[in-house]
Amino acid sequence: MGGGTVAKRDIIAGLDVGTSSVRCAICEVDQRGSWNIIGLGTSRSEGIKKGAVVDIESTVGCILEAVESAQRMAGVTVESVHVGVPNTHASLVVTRGIVAVSSDDKEITEDDVERVLQAARVINLPPNRQIIDIIPRQYIIDGYEGIRSPSGMAGIRLEVEALLVTGAITSIQNLVRCVERAGLQIESLILNAMALGELVLSADEKELGVVLADLGGGTCEIAYFCNGALQSIGAIPLGGDHITSDIAFGLRTSLGVAEQAKIEHGTLLSVPEDKLFTIPDVGGENTRDVSVRKLSTIIEARVHEMLSFISEELPKLKVPEAIPSGLVLTGGVAATQGLVPYLRTMLECSVRLAQDGTAGSEDTSYATAIGLVMHALRRPASNDSTRSTRRERKSGGLFSRVAEWLRDMWE
Ligand SMILES: Nc1ncnc2c1ncn2[C@@H]1O[C@H](COP(=O)(O)OP(=O)(O)OP(=O)(O)O)[C@@H](O)[C@H]1O
Ligand SMILES: [Mg+2]
Repeated sequence: MGGGTVAKRDIIAGLDVGTSSVRCAICEVDQRGSWNIIGLGTSRSEGIKKGAVVDIESTVGCILEAVESAQRMAGVTVESVHVGVPNTHASLVVTRGIVAVSSDDKEITEDDVERVLQAARVINLPPNRQIIDIIPRQYIIDGYEGIRSPSGMAGIRLEVEALLVTGAITSIQNLVRCVERAGLQIESLILNAMALGELVLSADEKELGVVLADLGGGTCEIAYFCNGALQSIGAIPLGGDHITSDIAFGLRTSLGVAEQAKIEHGTLLSVPEDKLFTIPDVGGENTRDVSVRKLSTIIEARVHEMLSFISEELPKLKVPEAIPSGLVLTGGVAATQGLVPYLRTMLECSVRLAQDGTAGSEDTSYATAIGLVMHALRRPASNDSTRSTRRERKSGGLFSRVAEWLRDMWE
């Protein structure tokens, strides 16, 4: 598929535990560092509401099913995964760290970078929050700002300005528990927005300013990137499942029939009044005709509501009124026919569907899982929150590794 600057790791897996589906992507990295997605697997999600685990047993079953299906496709066994954390449970804090460069010749080493990131992690957190990740925004060497990769440069004082991703302890621990009960080790926790941004946004978009909207089943997650980095995140508790229940209510039918009608006939394009489709009657014995226009009116009402919530959220995320690179869409709802032109008209900005690299289709449902893998691959070693844990792994058994990792998380 592609290449990039990657570490020499053989198999990397990403796990996206969503409200509607659990998805797993497996990637193989060869000796020369080129990578290839070799396995994708999914299962219908049960036990997740609005991105939070509400039933551990069902969630464990869904994780196993998705991972096993990806393993079958890939023909490999996965022992550990990079797990996505939804924006819903995360918040960002700007933090700074400062260290003196340690070497005699004043060349900044990977160790200095690691130390400065560690220094930036030291902040007072409320007792119900934990650190998930740290995202460097810029490094400052002896007062010179805007440095992206300080390793190898000369300097005396190294500073970092970073975004600390923190998460609600309970939701994160429940997610961690489910993955572990499925027999998998957690390599790292990665904010979904970072994973998606890595995969579907271009460097130019991220530099100029772009809003990424992941329109999922239970939530719509938004992230704003500018100056080459993530700036802010938000979430709206509305998604495709709300559209489905509106349809079920409006057409007096079951959720299953409503979901199928939405996917097969739903559109936001204008449709002739006499265009009809057939659904089974309640009881399932007979069928009846329904107007496509009626269906699309129901969908439009909910999409309009989502859009107004998004519009209210954007100023809170400090997104400028005219977003230079516009809006990029991922998630199941993004596949709604006519959504892109509809949003373009309503928002008066450029809107495009993301590409997740799988067969160039409009289906971006694996974008988060693949993005997790890409993010893990491209993350500089010094910014890898699990790096020290990995060194320990050579000697430690499974339990000591998990304990080590948990200790890191709680620090
Ligand atoms: N072709 C389609 N047209 C319209 N809606 C669709 C289509 N395909 C999937 N959806 C809807 O997308 C939603 C699922 O999206 P997705 O798989 O991105 O959610 P998720 O990641 O599991 O959930 P979340 O991100 O909210 O936790 C469902 O509501 C589904 O009905
Ligand atoms: Mg999702």
